[in-house]
Amino acid sequence: MSGRAAADLEESPASILQAPTAPAWVEQAARAWPELLLDHANCEKKAASTALALMFAYPQDRALALALSRVAREELRHFEQVVRAMSACGVELTRQRPGRYAQQLRGALRSADPDRKLDLLLMSALIEARSAERFALLAPRLPAPLGALYAQLMDAESRHFALYLGFARSTAPQAWRARLIELGALEAQLATTADVSLRFHSGPVAAEQ
Ligand SMILES: [Fe+2]
Ligand SMILES: [Fe+2]
Repeated sequence: MSGRAAADLEESPASILQAPTAPAWVEQAARAWPELLLDHANCEKKAASTALALMFAYPQDRALALALSRVAREELRHFEQVVRAMSACGVELTRQRPGRYAQQLRGALRSADPDRKLDLLLMSALIEARSAERFALLAPRLPAPLGALYAQLMDAESRHFALYLGFARSTAPQAWRARLIELGALEAQLATTADVSLRFHSGPVAAEQ
């Protein structure tokens, strides 16, 4: 990870991301934001669903269940906010194929506990961190009401990042850091290398020849 030792990792969304979002993605997203809203709405739905899945998988962890219940409600409120923004902008709610990002991250998770719990928490922390980074990048580039919404969402996803990372630390006090670096390398690759379709967590779409 670009010359930075694990011990130097700070715990803010920007500092755990191993590569910043490419300026090319920001330019493409700032142009195509109406289409990106549909993927964004799906991401909020998926974030609620991931929180609920963790609650079902680890019902004995009361602190996790209560914290994630709040996260799931908050993600569904975000979904509602994005759908309202789509209505205001005349963007249809249709079925859209998800990009490679979440699917490939999920494919790297270990299947047996306790490793799986740690991996799910770290994956969620990374996705929240990338979301917060991109909301911050896009907020000043979007029309006013949407820019304000994205600034608000940046704060919420930063909180979710801290929450997931906190649970990852307490779940595996020795192992979390090394595993975060492994999953973070994959996350950075998926979020920053050339992609085939523009999505909220995609890399920039390669220019057609
Ligand atoms: Fe959200
Ligand atoms: Fe979130």
